[in-house]
Amino acid sequence: MTPELGATQIVIELLYLVASVLFILSLKWMSSPTTARHGIWAGEIGMVLAIGGTLLNHGMSYHLIAIGLVLGTIIGVPLGRVAMTAVPQRTALSHAFGALCVTLVGSAEFYLRSPDISPFMMSVLSLEVILGGLTVTGSLMAAGKLQEILPQRPLTYKGQNLVNFLLLAGALVIAVTLVLHPGSRSLFPFMILIALAFGVLLIIPIGGADMPTVISLLNGYAGLSAAAMGFVLNSKLLIIAGALDGSSGLILSIIMSKAMNRSFTNVLFGAFGQVQAAAAGGEEAKPVRSATPEEAAAILSAANRVIVVPGYGMAVAQAQHKVRELYDALTKRGVDVRFAIHPVAGRMPGHMNVLLAEADIPYDRLIEMDEINGDFPQTDVALVIGANDVTNPAARTDTTSPIYGMPILDVDKAHTVMVIKRSMNPGFAGIDNPLYYLDNTLMLFGDAKAFVGSIVRELAGGHG
Ligand code: TAP
Repeated sequence: MTPELGATQIVIELLYLVASVLFILSLKWMSSPTTARHGIWAGEIGMVLAIGGTLLNHGMSYHLIAIGLVLGTIIGVPLGRVAMTAVPQRTALSHAFGALCVTLVGSAEFYLRSPDISPFMMSVLSLEVILGGLTVTGSLMAAGKLQEILPQRPLTYKGQNLVNFLLLAGALVIAVTLVLHPGSRSLFPFMILIALAFGVLLIIPIGGADMPTVISLLNGYAGLSAAAMGFVLNSKLLIIAGALDGSSGLILSIIMSKAMNRSFTNVLFGAFGQVQAAAAGGEEAKPVRSATPEEAAAILSAANRVIVVPGYGMAVAQAQHKVRELYDALTKRGVDVRFAIHPVAGRMPGHMNVLLAEADIPYDRLIEMDEINGDFPQTDVALVIGANDVTNPAARTDTTSPIYGMPILDVDKAHTVMVIKRSMNPGFAGIDNPLYYLDNTLMLFGDAKAFVGSIVRELAGGHG
């Protein structure tokens, strides 16, 4: 190695080291809303350094890279401009692209090196392309279901799990054969084809309701396949970044499953959407009490303590800025207003934190479920804005409910509960909510943004 190349190598290693540290800090900072912005910056700077370091490597074909860069930018910019509620499917597409890259690099490495591949390297390479392949199609299916291009309901048939198991076993048998005979080049495409088919078949029996959890799991697979690619390419940075990505994806899906009181196997093999459809039918209309914006404003201004419970409906209505105005108006009147954050409110982890932070609601007013649940009995008004399942008391009491056991926000224990939603339609889980029929509940029917806006106007004396 020439001294010049040696110096470049040192610079590359240094850049990779700093990038790795930034990736770790990024994940750590993103675990709290107060430091999340730093986390994003750390991740972005880390990625720029990692790409910069890679470009310094000897023998790069810069013109091809430039073409890739332009194509990637053309696809990436519009992808980044989706509505917040579409972020889960957008994330799934990113996983599909990442996994496609991993699978293609793995295939290229195999054909470049075969038959001179050690058993360890061939095992890692097989893991890389099997995980990569199933993540490509699995993520595309998940994105399609969430975007409602594909049917959201679970598509099941008899013996489905056995077929899936046999497919996976087939891919593993080919992998073992390749480990023993790395020169069997014609077998390699079959391993990839099976992995691609497995990705489709693994996702179709899962209902749209579970897609965010599945996407997080696929994030884990994509990370693990990238870590495997790190071994194949002898890149410590890829091993570290892939391991961080893989483990954080897996941990996140465990947290989400726990917050819904579901096991991993139930999410993957339970065909949850079918239970929903059955539970939704045959409900007879029960009486509910409703109120107008004027009445709601009067009740709120007479309260000392208010807990706002935001949910998916607030996100859809983009009501967060009106909610901020309501917070200001009530706080000015001396009302103590806090926000109860359920871990799976909305459609993605941290959804409510992001929206409320966007509206500049102080972080110390956002209280996690476990911390705030004990305060509902001493609360005058629980104001539920577009949340449904996360407030459903059936999760505590009805053993037959599909969400039985899911930890919920105990809004029903507040003196008065007011629920802003447009109709009596169910939420994500597709089930009725007994909260709406309680004596202390008032339904505020309307779009979240419009209704909160009307309350704010009432509080301001009917002006503006
Ligand atoms: P949901 O139970 O889905 O309820 C949202 C409610 O918002 C609906 O009942 C809907 O009623 C109302 N709504 C919709 N648009 C509205 C609008 N423009 N204005 C006012 N209200 C509107 O939401 P949630 O309570 O946030 O619970 C989240 C659900 O998603 C849970 O079942 C959870 O398990 C699931 N989930 C979440 C995640 C993550 S990570 N967040 C992941 C997987 C699954 P109307 O149609 O009557 O208005």
